[in-house]
Amino acid sequence: MSETPEFPEPSGRSEPAGAREQAARAAELDAADPLAAVRERFVLDPAPDHASGDTDVYLDGNSLGMLPRGVADRIADVIDREWGRLRIRSWSESGWWTAPERVGDKIAPLIGAGPGRVVVGDSTSVNIFKALIGGVRMAGKGCTEILVDATTFPTDGYIARSAARMTGLAVRPVEPARIADEVTERTALALVNHVDYRTGRLNDLPGITHALHSAGALAVWDLCHSAGALPVGLDAHHVDLAVGCTYKYLNGGPGAPAYLYIRESLQERFESPLPGWNSHADPFAMDPSYTPADGIARGRVGTPDILSLLALEAALEVWDGVAIEDVRTKSLALTDFFLECVAAYVPPGRVRSLTPADHRSRGSQVSLACSPKLAADRQGGTPLAGEVMDELIRRGVVGDFRHPDVLRFGFTPLYTSFADAERAARVLGEVLGALPEVESGAAG
Ligand SMILES: Cc1ncc(COP(=O)(O)O)c(C=O)c1O
Repeated sequence: MSETPEFPEPSGRSEPAGAREQAARAAELDAADPLAAVRERFVLDPAPDHASGDTDVYLDGNSLGMLPRGVADRIADVIDREWGRLRIRSWSESGWWTAPERVGDKIAPLIGAGPGRVVVGDSTSVNIFKALIGGVRMAGKGCTEILVDATTFPTDGYIARSAARMTGLAVRPVEPARIADEVTERTALALVNHVDYRTGRLNDLPGITHALHSAGALAVWDLCHSAGALPVGLDAHHVDLAVGCTYKYLNGGPGAPAYLYIRESLQERFESPLPGWNSHADPFAMDPSYTPADGIARGRVGTPDILSLLALEAALEVWDGVAIEDVRTKSLALTDFFLECVAAYVPPGRVRSLTPADHRSRGSQVSLACSPKLAADRQGGTPLAGEVMDELIRRGVVGDFRHPDVLRFGFTPLYTSFADAERAARVLGEVLGALPEVESGAAG
């Protein structure tokens, strides 16, 4: 364990240069924001232990989205009435049995899918397994390999290696930008993250999908960091299979179930590696032999996690009247403005953005790498970013830290304001500005 660095308390008097102008710009941008009122659909109360009683600037919606207001009452009703009094009758009368497909249809428009193509249930990791083995079973006979995004979130890589072992294929890690050059006629499929969890880089879903199809391979996308933050266009770009979680930009709550998308024209050929009774054509026939259900229901496995699933359904109501294109416009404006404020407030050389400046390659987060020199000065080589993030959180700015040196700030346009972006950058400037001077020439 590294010792906690001592960050001087903010003076509260000295205002950084340009702060008035940036705050005025934030106010203008918030006043012109067509999504500003959507923030009120979320619980905005301060943390119970927050000394000042202020609400935190919450920039961790790319990890766990905030709680939508309607969820608590809905779950109370599910528990008291549907479970407490209707009991077993709720499987039919309260629509529990059909919830995986119904909630899937509510997510579908946010990821550019038509009805009947998305089913909700299980974790993302489990859905990756279904998609990979199901995909390999649909691929051509001579295929020998699975390509995996070399920068992937780890679970995708772990599951891909296991799926490959089970199907006798090899796994080849490839940088997303190289997939079009590396795919061959021996490639069964590629599993790619739409937005990189670490850097916030947005990968080219239409281009990579097209390149895979040109070589006869399937495209499997992990949408965890893009769904609810930007348009995905699954149907329009002929994506074959996709998975994603619902606890980030879809605000479904901790451990909320994930989803599986299967392109309509592939559904008939999709053979699940987990053919549980919920995916049977006639589950209550209790037939010892397995016949898959028609359509997306064949992506189901066992009894759905009803409380989490119905919390997610209630959470999705915050999207009423919200266009994902407006979300994207605001997301880019927020991340641009945050980067501008970071440049204004943080002394030069102390952080470097890992997030692409080009809008076409940017998701909805900003990742800042702390200078290695700065870290070494403080801790004798121990990375400092974790301590910097702890201090930001103590001062009411909640992002997160990824090893070894990355500060991640997620921007959720439904509830993040431009004033939040300005305050976060100002506090970051205070915290990093309080650290010892970096020697000239230090990596920035
Ligand atoms: C890109 C990505 N894929 C997969 C996962 C894992 O999801 P789960 O824990 O639901 O299996 C995450 C979790 O954060 C993720 O960010």
